[in-house]
Amino acid sequence: MKIELATLNLGEITTEQFLAQYWQKQPLLIRNALPGFTSPISPDELAGLACEDTIESRLVIEKDGVTPWEVRHGPFTETDFGSLPESHWTLLVQDVEKHAQELHELIQPFRFIPDWRIDDLMISYATNHGSVGPHKDNYDVFLLQGLGKRRWQISTQPVSEDNMTDNLDLCIMKEFRAEQEWILEPGDLLYLPPNVAHYGTAVGECMTYSIGFRAPQSYELLHGFLEHKLEKALENGAASQTYRDPDLIMQDDPAHISTGNIEKLRTTIQDLLPKSPDEIDHWIGKYLSKSKEHLAIQIENPHLDRATFITLWQDNNILMRNTAVRILYTEENDQCIIYAYGFEYPVPAKYREGISALCRKREISFDSMRKWLDDEFFADILCQFYNLGYLYFDPI
Ligand code: SIN
Ligand code: CO
Repeated sequence: MKIELATLNLGEITTEQFLAQYWQKQPLLIRNALPGFTSPISPDELAGLACEDTIESRLVIEKDGVTPWEVRHGPFTETDFGSLPESHWTLLVQDVEKHAQELHELIQPFRFIPDWRIDDLMISYATNHGSVGPHKDNYDVFLLQGLGKRRWQISTQPVSEDNMTDNLDLCIMKEFRAEQEWILEPGDLLYLPPNVAHYGTAVGECMTYSIGFRAPQSYELLHGFLEHKLEKALENGAASQTYRDPDLIMQDDPAHISTGNIEKLRTTIQDLLPKSPDEIDHWIGKYLSKSKEHLAIQIENPHLDRATFITLWQDNNILMRNTAVRILYTEENDQCIIYAYGFEYPVPAKYREGISALCRKREISFDSMRKWLDDEFFADILCQFYNLGYLYFDPI
């Protein structure tokens, strides 16, 4: 499937105005944001993805399931779909752009937000009245209508914890009072900042595309970094030192922890903590470029040397970026650091333009990169990325 998308049409406003006035601030409905948009994937194809065991999927059955708002987790079988009620259910499939890689084109119009902030494209298919109930999410989302119509109701009032229905596998609000509502049709887009309560209901059969964002919690960052530090310190033995005090001297009061003892213990901890921000910065780069644990690279290329790789690229013309692998970069002093799949690759700053060209599109034409390929160092990195499955030729 070849997807050609118009650029995002935010109506009266520019992307700069969107960021200044709406992003993380207030909801925005944009009619016809992707003019002429038709769902590139059919409900049957979506159901097919939900049958694969590497793909995260859920069925939400509001009525006539085992319980009200029953949640079933994939992978599903054809029989599972055959025994569903007529209406009031939704199928949701996560990370679709990483599995059906051509659907990554749907992320492209939203890349005015940095790549590291983008989580995934989730596609839902709902039968008439299908819904996942009124709820809030703690991330930003663009809800693009793909097929049929969906009514969206929203409320910007704070959602209290005691307004959540008990004993459900879903977080659904007990009480929801809509402030605004719209019926969205294909190509219409609703932007919601985190924590805005929303309630979508299919009006007939419909498909909705959610471009969801990631925003690490401070807990997640601290936990991740300390876990990494601890792992390293265990590896090099620094965390396996046992307290020793051959210099212990008599003290009057056995309950007293002496200042000297406290200092010694404090220093043990301080010595294990980072000495410079660089160490934290590099961990952040690696962390942000990691893929979700269940999302493996899944592309195994034959191992090539640089010359063969370049010849093959020239012959194929197009090299593809594996959308399951995040490739990001930072700049510091006179170098750029490429972060890919949780690993770092420091390169001289002169390659910035080349890295940017590599990441800009999913399909990388040989001509667009030709000038960089004369450079053996840079070509070696691309060849290495190919050998690791971060890049591939289509068909594989
Ligand atoms: C849906 O597509 O049905 C749910 C999307 C959402 O509420 O976040
Ligand atoms: Co939601």
